[in-house]
Amino acid sequence: MSARSADALATGTHTDAHLPVLSQAVLKGWCGRLDGTYIDCTFGRGGHSRELLRKLHSKAQLFAIDRDPQALEAARKLAKEDLRVTALDGNFAELLPTLAAESCSGVLFDLGVSSPQLDQAERGFSFNKDGPLDMRMDPRSGVSAADWLASADEVEIADALYHYGDERASRRIAKLIVAQRSHTPLLRTLELADLVASVIPRRGRTHPATKTFQALRIVVNDELGALESGLNSSLEVLEQGGRLAVVSFHSLEDRAVKRFMHGKAKAPPADRRRPQLDDEFIPELRLLGKFGAERSELAVNARSRSARLRVAERVR
Ligand SMILES: C[S@@+](CC[C@H](N)C(=O)[O-])C[C@H]1O[C@@H](n2cnc3c(N)ncnc32)[C@H](O)[C@@H]1O
Repeated sequence: MSARSADALATGTHTDAHLPVLSQAVLKGWCGRLDGTYIDCTFGRGGHSRELLRKLHSKAQLFAIDRDPQALEAARKLAKEDLRVTALDGNFAELLPTLAAESCSGVLFDLGVSSPQLDQAERGFSFNKDGPLDMRMDPRSGVSAADWLASADEVEIADALYHYGDERASRRIAKLIVAQRSHTPLLRTLELADLVASVIPRRGRTHPATKTFQALRIVVNDELGALESGLNSSLEVLEQGGRLAVVSFHSLEDRAVKRFMHGKAKAPPADRRRPQLDDEFIPELRLLGKFGAERSELAVNARSRSARLRVAERVR
């Protein structure tokens, strides 16, 4: 996610609404057979799912997954209204393998956090709102950002900020965090945001803590680990001709999605230093394209600026 769009996202005004990004491109990419079975791995408030359901026939099925209890509540409500929907509570990395017996026409990942998660100060995702330094998408399990910052060593913190936030001042920030916590634990979002702002000058509209917050969120929720498992499991559930659609918001995610899709679609380039293998490469995916927001969407939804959709089709 670019710093600017993370900023725009964090200053959203909705409290329980989430405007889905790239909705028409997602629908076109994700939707195949109208009577098929679909999985929305990141239901949120169901913007993409609802668009899909409007198109699908009455015999179709949709599994709606989310690990956020509030998102799950929204999915359960939809499941009561629409018998085609089944709500599943948990991490898609763990739930997708349990759906291996399903023969799915489409799997969607719309990665990252939702607007309601960012807008509610008590969830601890926003550097603009004072709240507990939590950042867990599923507050019922795992370690909060405050607990992680209290126990990680200085090098671990610096590495996380550098690798997951692309933060060039990672060492300076990590040093400061460790110095601060030696007398007072860091428990609130604004305490951390102010601490980071004390060493990084503000540039334009971008808050100096943008990258730090992004990095911590990725660590606390093991977002890249879940993505890797989820992508691999998606191949176990997709039928031949089924679609894999992934929306990502920052280069780390997009790189992982690109590497996965290309790795399953194209033979690795020949390496003259290694002996040629006899095994012929058999592609599992066919790439259907990469899409970004149109100008009309950029005008109404700041989150769409850094959104990238990649779509591929299962070929065997
Ligand atoms: C960007 S929002 C999705 C918004 C949704 N497409 C909509 O239109 O409302 C991402 C959602 O995915 C959920 N999520 C992220 N990683 C997850 C994971 N590994 N397992 C389950 N849910 C996850 C988050 O809790 C959040 O609700």
